[in-house]
Amino acid sequence: MAAKTKTVFVCKNCGMDYPKWLGQCPSCHQWNTLVEKAISTATEQNVPAWSFSKEGSATGAIPLNIREVEFSQQDRIDTSDTEFNRILGGGLVSGSITLLGGEPGIGKSTLMLQLALRAKGLRTLYVSGEESPQQIKMRAERIGITNDECYVLSETRTDAIFSHIKEVKPAMVVVDSIQTLTTGAVEASAGSVSQIRECAGELLRYAKQSGVPVILIGHITKDGTLAGPKILEHMVDTVLQFEGDRNHIYRIVRAIKNRFGSTDEIGIYSMNGGGLTVVDNPSSALISQHNSQLSGNSIAVTLEGMRPIMIEVQALVSSAVYGTPQRSTTGYDIKRLNMLLAVLEKRVGFHLGSKDVFLNITGGVRVDDPALDLAVVASVLSSNEDIAIGEKTCFAAEVGLSGEIRPVTRIEQRVSEAQKLGFNIIFISKYNKIVPQNYPGIRVMPIERIEQLVKFCFA
Ligand code: TYD
Ligand code: MG
Repeated sequence: MAAKTKTVFVCKNCGMDYPKWLGQCPSCHQWNTLVEKAISTATEQNVPAWSFSKEGSATGAIPLNIREVEFSQQDRIDTSDTEFNRILGGGLVSGSITLLGGEPGIGKSTLMLQLALRAKGLRTLYVSGEESPQQIKMRAERIGITNDECYVLSETRTDAIFSHIKEVKPAMVVVDSIQTLTTGAVEASAGSVSQIRECAGELLRYAKQSGVPVILIGHITKDGTLAGPKILEHMVDTVLQFEGDRNHIYRIVRAIKNRFGSTDEIGIYSMNGGGLTVVDNPSSALISQHNSQLSGNSIAVTLEGMRPIMIEVQALVSSAVYGTPQRSTTGYDIKRLNMLLAVLEKRVGFHLGSKDVFLNITGGVRVDDPALDLAVVASVLSSNEDIAIGEKTCFAAEVGLSGEIRPVTRIEQRVSEAQKLGFNIIFISKYNKIVPQNYPGIRVMPIERIEQLVKFCFA
């Protein structure tokens, strides 16, 4: 068949292609970004997929009966970082591609360099487009781990990276960051959507063909989404998010997508002088500064992934200085706070409309668990009444719009965590079925309505 040159018009900004030229890209709305591109006219493009040419049948993967597919647990690489292994579902899968996103300065480079240094017995290649080998070495010195098999490369061009990979033959590759890479295949500046997509595509093909796992670091835009095309998240096997407050020491790594494991697990690290260390007992770490004498403090038993974690909630309620009362939260959804305040106003008759309400989750962690509701309510009431909640009291229940106390998942696990940490009272929903005798030393207080909480704690 005669090869005929075909062309398409590709947007330099977003990478979409169109059969004809347009002034404005309909996808990203940028002007003058379409450029003409010849598309390869190799036989694979022109021969229909169903035509049984000799070459066609001999190349590529062949269908296998699923019973014949061999798989062993060794296909997972132990990264020597227990938290990281757990988030991934038991280690890095060979040939997988993982994207780690997070805000600048949160510790992505630190975590990945640590991983590369710690992986004993594995040859690792840490490619950085952001730092020089000297800067990486400085960081490694701070972390204080040495590894003879860890190679660093300061490079942004993918063809150069691949030629070094051929020489080094690493067993794991880290790329910091995908936004700094460029490939000659696309004419656009580094960090543009089409560059990101193409570079990620090349790395994806490398990972799948070589079986070497690749970890990409990705930047996050101001609104908290991964910078780059959404398609990047679809391309990779696993998307991890690195969260936390830069000014606090705790950091959480959460899986948002995981082809090889659950997205329930999280890893908790603390950032200190020598890099990131695994927090073995997050509950006691997050509530260690608990001060019983102060009003406005309460403890919630939340669940992050499969692990129960005790978290301290602090509220400050004061008379509004300006006309409109302020509501401000750290680590908690402000809409949820407003909803709970409305419930308190309507059901318990607390007039919070003229009050400023500030709410903090200590430790700088962000929590979505609805089981935090009751502790939030208790904190707000405690600060408003200026009555401290007992030091050994904790909460685990959701609060509904009509002031009802709703049950939460895995209550047994939550109660036993509270019991383990020496709490002696836990407020839960009446609708959470639990056998109190199983938890000696802790009094389980099942309540049905918010008014009961007021009666028990603040009457
Ligand atoms: P970094 O890994 O550079 O963040 P990212 O790659 O996500 O932008 O980490 C940046 C912060 O971490 C920096 O402000 C300093 C701090 N840090 C420590 O506190 N201790 C350490 O041992 C290291 C290496 C960094
Ligand atoms: Mg970095």
